Amino acid sequence: MSTGKFIVIEGMEGAGKSSAITVIENILIEQGIDYVNTREPGGTPLAEALRDMVKSVDHQEKLTVETELLLMYASRSQLLANKILPTLAAGKWVIGDRHDLSSRAYQGGGRGFDEATMNTIREITLKGFCPDITIYLDIDPHIGLSRAQARGDLDRIELEKMDFFMRVHDKYRELAAQDTTIITVDAAQPMLKVHQDIATTVSEFIAKATVD
Ligand code: TMP
Repeated sequence: MSTGKFIVIEGMEGAGKSSAITVIENILIEQGIDYVNTREPGGTPLAEALRDMVKSVDHQEKLTVETELLLMYASRSQLLANKILPTLAAGKWVIGDRHDLSSRAYQGGGRGFDEATMNTIREITLKGFCPDITIYLDIDPHIGLSRAQARGDLDRIELEKMDFFMRVHDKYRELAAQDTTIITVDAAQPMLKVHQDIATTVSEFIAKATVD
């Protein structure tokens, strides 16, 4: 039995990740491909508890940027070992709502952790594991944040200032430009066009993956 593939959807607040995931799910269903969804941080019981810690605005003390970084990778370690790897080994595909690129953009770009630190913690946690394809939904942070604000309550990270999101955005774009497994989709286009671009990317990926 061949191993499954790991498709990740990435992007900033308000980029439209949720509806993009539905587009991907529909294509996998049409193609008869069994899949499992994950989200990060989170995706296992322990990792979901870490997600709550990371997102909560109710802490009695300030969550340091170092704790935030370590919680993201602690959550990813749990998810990788207990869900992603066993699922792929069983021949199922995984659709990830965020993965390591988020840490590189938010903690690396946004919080300013340097490349060497990020690479060390990635290597400890992931040991070279990476998605087969990442679809990055690119959105101007001003537009994305206003969409997220319109949706309601903001979490701890969404309450950051605009210059934080500008750094995250710059880092996303920089990393996407360096890696051929990251496909950038312009999320500012009309929704139908965004979804068509995602569908084309995923269909081409499946066609290639099922021949290889
Ligand atoms: P979301 O999945 O609902 O978008 O919320 C996750 C939040 O956590 C979002 O603000 C992005 C942030 N985040 C990081 O800062 N680093 C990470 O590694 C991940 C996975 C998410």
